[in-house]
Amino acid sequence: MNAWSGDWESEGPEGVLIRNAVPEDYGRIVAVCDEWWGRPVAHILPRLFLDHFHTTILIAEKGGELLGFLVGFPSPTKADEAYVHFSGVAPEQRRSGLGREMYRLFLDAARDDGRTVVRAVTSPVNERSIAFHRSIGFAVTGPHEGYDGPGTDRMAFELRL
Ligand SMILES: CC(C)(COP(=O)(O)OP(=O)(O)OC[C@H]1O[C@@H](n2cnc3c(N)ncnc32)[C@H](O)[C@@H]1OP(=O)(O)O)[C@@H](O)C(=O)NCCC(=O)NCCS
Repeated sequence: MNAWSGDWESEGPEGVLIRNAVPEDYGRIVAVCDEWWGRPVAHILPRLFLDHFHTTILIAEKGGELLGFLVGFPSPTKADEAYVHFSGVAPEQRRSGLGREMYRLFLDAARDDGRTVVRAVTSPVNERSIAFHRSIGFAVTGPHEGYDGPGTDRMAFELRL
């Protein structure tokens, strides 16, 4: 059993509970993500991610309060890859190791599943995300011009397992 099992639950830093998501978590995530990012990002996470990928999504909470999430999934077409679409930690919980711990659980599950590479992307302005991914071992390239369409450049992250 691991963080892709659909009913995973474990204790993270400072007594935070980390568990697999259920589709009903969707509303709680979109309710906080604009504030957590400091800009509008909710449009990046349509409901379909929670409906169809919740068994590999991680939710962190304490006393019922949402403190973090990691939205990722194994690639259905690239058998050796997994992808992290969206991850965030509540401002008051940052630098406690929660972001790193959610990634550790996801990467372990990806490795168990035979995946050898994990990818993610971020906006070039998101220096915190770039520093975080570099710190946990991702190679960083970019900006890749027009990666997500005209005028939308992206930094790319890659971690070989
Ligand atoms: C990026 C984010 C998820 C990191 O979560 P976190 O729980 O604070 O990260 P951790 O405490 O696990 O940090 C692990 C390491 O990453 C690096 N890091 C994290 N935040 C950093 C920052 N603001 N500046 C520089 N390095 C940072 C550090 O090396 C840190 O280790 P240290 O605290 O021992 O020095 C969080 O800041 C966040 O939610 N940001 C807004 C949303 C976002 O940009 N998400 C990522 C893109 S999808």
